[in-house]
Amino acid sequence: MTTLKLAISESQIQECVGRLAQLIQADYQDQPLLVVGVLHGSFVFLSDLIRHMHLPIQVDFIRLSSYDESAKSSGAVRLHHGVRTSVVGKNVLVVEDIVDTGLTAQFLRGYFEDQGAATVRICSLLDKPVRRRTSVTVDYVGFEVPDQFLVGYGLDYNQQYRELRALYSLEARTDGS
Ligand code: IMP
Ligand code: MG
Repeated sequence: MTTLKLAISESQIQECVGRLAQLIQADYQDQPLLVVGVLHGSFVFLSDLIRHMHLPIQVDFIRLSSYDESAKSSGAVRLHHGVRTSVVGKNVLVVEDIVDTGLTAQFLRGYFEDQGAATVRICSLLDKPVRRRTSVTVDYVGFEVPDQFLVGYGLDYNQQYRELRALYSLEARTDGS
């Protein structure tokens, strides 16, 4: 059995999202921005983030191979669904829920650069630096977290818990129940 332990509260998340939005806004000034959410984990974060930003933005989504140990060990990232919007000459901001090994972030940086984006930056609510397998730059990070599996605020475990308003670590129960 597993149990959920509060890791980051709703108010901590909201304060952090506001701070990230201000940083992003200051960096882009009034330049148009294409915000690309990585499905599915980023959709809650992205919807809060864009409502704190006062910039001319477009929103699109991209879907990659699901979190899967075999894909991780091979280092393969597979694109299931690219963006519909043209990225040529645009400032692209990739929005991630969490950067773990960094393979997804590295892949997306190369993907948008190859597609002709003017600039590519990555914003992730969470960062697990101890798990990193590449030296990819994450431009905006909400919280650095230790090597725990987190759920809530869009992040799932087997498609569960995305609706929770805070972030929780998933822990094995020790009382046998
Ligand atoms: P990376 O390519 O290893 O950096 O993979 C990042 C992706 O793995 C994230 O976008 C999540 O979908 C998933 N992931 C990594 N750690 C967690 C976690 O603690 N909870 C939920 N999903 C996670
Ligand atoms: Mg993800």
